[in-house]
Amino acid sequence: MTTAEAVEARSYGNLIAGEWRDAQGDQTFDSVNPARRSEVIGHFARGTAQDVELAVKAAVEAQPNWARTPVPARAEILARTGRLLEERKEELAQLMTREMGKVLTEARGDVQEGIDMAKYMAGQGRNPIGEVVPSELRQKRAFAERVPIGVVGCITPWNFPMAIPCWKLMPALLAGNAVVFKPAEDTPLVAIKLAEVLLEAGLPKGVLGLVTGFGEEAGAALVEHPAVRAISFTGSVSVGQAIASTCGRLGKRVSLELGGKNAMLVCADADLELALEGAIWGAFGTTGQRCTATSRLIVQDKVLQDFTERLVSRVAELRLGDGLDPRTDVGPVINEAQLRRIHGYTEVGRQESARLLIGGRVATKGALAEGNFYEPTVFADVGERMRIAQEEIFGPTAVIIAAADVEEAIKIANGTAFGLSVAIYTKDIDQALQAVDRLEAGIVYVNAPTIGAEIQLPFGGVKATGNGHRAAGTTALDEFTEWKTVYIDYSGRLQRAQIDTDAG
Ligand code: UN1
Repeated sequence: MTTAEAVEARSYGNLIAGEWRDAQGDQTFDSVNPARRSEVIGHFARGTAQDVELAVKAAVEAQPNWARTPVPARAEILARTGRLLEERKEELAQLMTREMGKVLTEARGDVQEGIDMAKYMAGQGRNPIGEVVPSELRQKRAFAERVPIGVVGCITPWNFPMAIPCWKLMPALLAGNAVVFKPAEDTPLVAIKLAEVLLEAGLPKGVLGLVTGFGEEAGAALVEHPAVRAISFTGSVSVGQAIASTCGRLGKRVSLELGGKNAMLVCADADLELALEGAIWGAFGTTGQRCTATSRLIVQDKVLQDFTERLVSRVAELRLGDGLDPRTDVGPVINEAQLRRIHGYTEVGRQESARLLIGGRVATKGALAEGNFYEPTVFADVGERMRIAQEEIFGPTAVIIAAADVEEAIKIANGTAFGLSVAIYTKDIDQALQAVDRLEAGIVYVNAPTIGAEIQLPFGGVKATGNGHRAAGTTALDEFTEWKTVYIDYSGRLQRAQIDTDAG
């Protein structure tokens, strides 16, 4: 075993105006290792509205100068951030596994996704920031450019403690905003490490504030603060909707990245071996705790029995354990509340008369009892309208739904409130592309599972998954910029648009 030495837990403060400070209130909370609840990772400031106030105040002061800094100079700080993250990748990945539980190979991937985003956004620093377009009038220039919004709030989940903060912070900072960052209460330390790296890379004081704590306190204060002009949130549907309604009331921009109930369509002509590997990775990678997780397997009747039997025998081989142990396939779930919630869905599935094929229990064998472990779970005979086929479980639970043909499979796949990612396994190119046209999702995969998006493309979903924004790709800048349209008339006379035209 390569279990890292448990480091003595120390106390951490909030980042306010470039300094790490204790919270205004004297309360703290602990971050614990989900694989071993007795291991405390650190003690963190329980941020309140007063802490948010201080961070926002510093951000408001720092932002104009940051916005005046040339974009390539801002980008250089992101490039340095990427290099520093790269140097510390292993250390950060180990820390992430201890704080969040995902297996070490995946924690490395999570840090890598943050590195990729830092470097990608650094590269954007010399790309166009607008459009020059012809004017309909003589001696008149017209162009439009992206400008920063001002101070933005980023609220991030625990399942990608490095990648998702980087998806938000890198474009927000590149665009010239100041950011106040409220990471999930389950993973404050990875967030603090990222903030430390940004400071070390040269980010001026105040441009980034970080307040640790809970959604109802620090998060709500950030959403409601009048000087925070936009909120970027990734997390649950219920919290997202509450944030959206507050932002609606306050006339504030909000971008939401919420749940998924992502389907994999396994067609009769699919390479079954490939589909099985994809299903295992998509459903049980990150212990199913991805918004992109493959939670519905929609399998064509012809291959249903074969696929199901082979899937179950593979699931039986998955090893639960501490993510630092290289033999572990599936790590713990984040906390006890999630453990109970996941098990609650197993009960729901039973009540709905779905057939539990494997798993369905809290794992308590040996050392597993010390953490939050749930057995990888598969249900068969699942009806498309059952709750376990409709609601996001966010754990290691997959359901198998039978479909007579591809037509029906597409209908079932589209039959949920969500629309994040979807996968189709088939060897028939026409069938694949017809499905790509018709599947209602922000991300569609052909012959690859529903997880594993790359940062240089838009990430996000349709329907209840979001509100039309996309993280990552060049589209990430849309979340964090306003457009300013500039007309320059150098004719020396009044020219009236739409009236004084040269045409006709
Ligand atoms: C998430 O689950 O919230 O596409 C993000 C993926 C990862 C990101 C997942 N690159 O699965």
